Amino acid sequence: MDDAQRGPLARSQAPEDAGVELTLRPRRLDQYFGQDAVKESLRISIAAARAREEPLDHILIHGPPGLGKTTLAMILAAEMGVSIRITAGPAIERTGDLASVLTTLQTGDILFIDEVHRLPRVVEETLYPAMEDFSLDIILGTGPQARDVRLKLNRFTLIGATTRYALVSQPLRDRFGATYRLDFYDERALAQIVRRSSQVLGCAIDDDGVAEIARRSRGTARVANRLLRRLRDYAEVEGDGVITGPLAIAALEQLQIDALGLDAMDRELLRVLIDRFGGGPAGLETLAAAVSEEADTIMDVYEPHLLKVGLLQRTPRGRVATRFAYEHLHIEPPKPFAVESPQRPLFDADAL
Ligand SMILES: Nc1ncnc2c1ncn2[C@@H]1O[C@H](COP(=O)(O)OP(=O)(O)O)[C@@H](O)[C@H]1O
Ligand SMILES: [Mg+2]
Repeated sequence: MDDAQRGPLARSQAPEDAGVELTLRPRRLDQYFGQDAVKESLRISIAAARAREEPLDHILIHGPPGLGKTTLAMILAAEMGVSIRITAGPAIERTGDLASVLTTLQTGDILFIDEVHRLPRVVEETLYPAMEDFSLDIILGTGPQARDVRLKLNRFTLIGATTRYALVSQPLRDRFGATYRLDFYDERALAQIVRRSSQVLGCAIDDDGVAEIARRSRGTARVANRLLRRLRDYAEVEGDGVITGPLAIAALEQLQIDALGLDAMDRELLRVLIDRFGGGPAGLETLAAAVSEEADTIMDVYEPHLLKVGLLQRTPRGRVATRFAYEHLHIEPPKPFAVESPQRPLFDADAL
């Protein structure tokens, strides 16, 4: 399956979207919809830090891709009126790389480390005293001349983001003053996001159009924005430029996004699990090989939503398709059916 068939998720980092994503990014907390508990708590932290004229505590944000982790870090910088340096765990290969970033930070500045669970071990260990005491232990010189020096750093705020909370080591977790988990958005928040984005993009959309996108965005802000852009194209070419309910339905069908928001890849995963592995259990790696996709991508991007809507279950022996998955794909379920559909979503991000 190539990218074009995989639907909007596979192309989440497509370069042609990168610029638009920047403009769609809310700049302030009051344009950041949903995640009410997180926002409320951050609002208090921001007010307190500002009143004391101190930097924010270190913050760890976790949750599936596209829910607004990077956006939130940028908003925190804007609300605090400080600069933000953005990097990612795998990009900091050596202690020296970390040292050169840390030593350029001014008091109060934010260092955002995406995929913080992928920091190399030695780098992570250098980060501990930097987070705790704002000091950096480095070795100057080599061989017999080598000596340890301790550098003083300006007080900064580290914001770490991760899609895999379970892979963040305990000592690193312990050094964050606050940890926030972002949840999938409900349709109301998604509708607000779609409405705001349509204003930013200057595209016409009615209430039914908004609702249709919100319903099929798999609870994910990035997907909602991506669908909005695709539907805007469709409306301009196939319609009169207005995204109405019926136009949205036709366009989503053309994009192969179904009523539950599944794209071609989601359905392919379930179909392979059912057809080739008798509905499971099948191991993640086996499944990944069968659909020619990275196991990590399946785990981060596809699975959370399938688990959440109850199409997939995780068992100690592997992934299992639920009865609901058979029904959704219009495949006759086997009798007797091995694993019953969960009554409620079994998804637990902390178990990832
Ligand atoms: N709460 C929100 N309100 C409005 N837009 C949001 C919100 N969260 C995310 N977005 C939008 O979704 C896109 C993806 O968010 P991003 O912060 O890059 O996600 P993550 O870093 O978690 O993968 C952003 O470009 C932004 O426009
Ligand atoms: Mg991000």
